[in-house]
Amino acid sequence: MTSQFEYGSISNAEEAKSLGVVLGQCFGDPSPSGWQTYSNLIGLENFRIISQASKVAGGLAILSTGQWYGSELVPTAAIASVGIAPEYRGAGTAAQLMTSTLKELYANGIPLSVLYAATQRLYRKVGYEQGGIFCRWSVSTANIQISDRNLSVQPVTPVNHEVFHKLYQQNAKVTNGHLERNQCLWELAVEPPKDQETYAYFIGSQAQPEGYVIFFQHQESNKRIIVIRDWVVLTVEAGRRLWTFLADHRSQIDQIQWRSSTVDPLSLLLPEQTAKIFDSERWMLRIVDVAQALEKRGYPTQVEAQLHLDVRDDLLGENNGQFVLTVSGGKGEVTRGGKGELQLDVRTLAPLYTGLFTAQQLQQMGQIKATHGAITVATQLFTGSQPWMSDKF
Ligand SMILES: CC(C)(COP(=O)(O)OP(=O)(O)OC[C@H]1O[C@@H](n2cnc3c(N)ncnc32)[C@H](O)[C@@H]1OP(=O)(O)O)[C@@H](O)C(=O)NCCC(=O)NCCS
Repeated sequence: MTSQFEYGSISNAEEAKSLGVVLGQCFGDPSPSGWQTYSNLIGLENFRIISQASKVAGGLAILSTGQWYGSELVPTAAIASVGIAPEYRGAGTAAQLMTSTLKELYANGIPLSVLYAATQRLYRKVGYEQGGIFCRWSVSTANIQISDRNLSVQPVTPVNHEVFHKLYQQNAKVTNGHLERNQCLWELAVEPPKDQETYAYFIGSQAQPEGYVIFFQHQESNKRIIVIRDWVVLTVEAGRRLWTFLADHRSQIDQIQWRSSTVDPLSLLLPEQTAKIFDSERWMLRIVDVAQALEKRGYPTQVEAQLHLDVRDDLLGENNGQFVLTVSGGKGEVTRGGKGELQLDVRTLAPLYTGLFTAQQLQQMGQIKATHGAITVATQLFTGSQPWMSDKF
C-alpha cells in the first residue's frame, strides 16, 4: 500500500533541492542556478510541497498580494509554479496539493486566490473558474501615425521600479483585477529576457508624471519589436505622447506589442483599427472565503441593494449555504441566512465577482439558477471595468 501524501512548507535544504529538481524538470529549466535565482526571488518560505514517504512529489509557490475590485484591495494569494514529478502524475496529486493549499489560505483569512492555468480541469476541480483577462496586442509602427510632443518623456536610468509604484497604484485602483504588486511581482514585471535590456520612461514632467512605459527590444525572425512589459497612461496627453514616442522608433522597429484587456483603451487613440490581439488567455480565480471576499470588495456607490445567495462549495464547507449581501454607500455587509434567490457553485461566483461575465450570461450558460430580481441586482452590483492584469507569474 502506498503511504499518504503530506503537505507543508519546505523544512530543510534537502527538500528545497528536491523541489528545485522537480520544478526544473516540469518547467524546462533544470539548471541549479535557475532554481537558485527563482527561489531567491519567491522566498523559500513561500513554497509548499507535497511528499510521499519523505520524497518530494511536487509543489507550488504562493505570492501574497491583493487584487483591486470596485476600487478596494482584496487580499489574494497568487499561485505559481504548480508542478508534480512525472511519476506521481495522474493520481490526484496536484488536486491534493491544491486542496491543502486552499484549506491553508482559508485558515489564514485570505479571501481570494488567482492563477494562470495550464489546464482548467485541474483547477476547476478545486473551485477556480475563469476570472479575468491577460491579452497581448500588436501594431506596426508605420500604422501609429500620431505626432504630439507636448509632454516630455524622461528616461529612468538605471531602471528603478520604485519610482513607478505610485502611478501604478493610481491606475490599478480603478482597474478590476489589477494586482497590488509586491517586490517579487515588480521584479518579474521589469526583468528583461536573457541578453536584453529593460528601458523605462516617465511620460510628462518628473514632478507630475502622467504615465510611464517599461519595455525591452527584441528580434523575432526578420521583425524588430518593442515589447512593452508595463505601461500606465492616466491622461489623453500621456496616451498621445506614448504613441508618438513609440512611433519615433520606426526607422529600426517594425512592431509594438503591449499587454491589455480585450477592450484596450490605448488603441482607441489610433487613427485606424490596425492594432490586433495576437494572444489571449483568462486567468482563474477561486473565492476562498465567500463572506470576506464579498465584504472586502467595493461596489457602485449609488446602488442600495440586497442579494440573497445560496452557495455550494464541496471543498471548503464554511462557504456552503445561504448568505445575504447588503450593499450601501459602496460597501458590502454579509450575514448568514436569507432567501437563497441566486443559487450557484462557488466556482461560478468567481466570474460574477470579477465582472468577467454578467449574472445574465452565467444564467444563460446554465451556471446560475436565480429569480429575475436577483439577476438584476447581481448585474448592478458586479458591473465594472473589464477585469484584467498585466502581470504573468
Ligand atoms: C498539470 C500537473 C500539475 C497535473 O498534475 P497531476 O498530479 O497529474 O494532476 P491530478 O492527477 O491531480 O489531476 C487532477 C485533474 O486534472 C486533470 N488533469 C491533469 N493534468 C491535465 C492535463 N495536462 N490536461 C487536462 N487535464 C488534466 C486530471 O485528469 C484530473 O481530472 P479528473 O479527476 O476529472 O480526471 C502536472 O501534469 C505537471 O506538473 N505538469 C507540468 C507542469 C505544469 O504544466 N504545471 C501546471 C501549471 S498551471
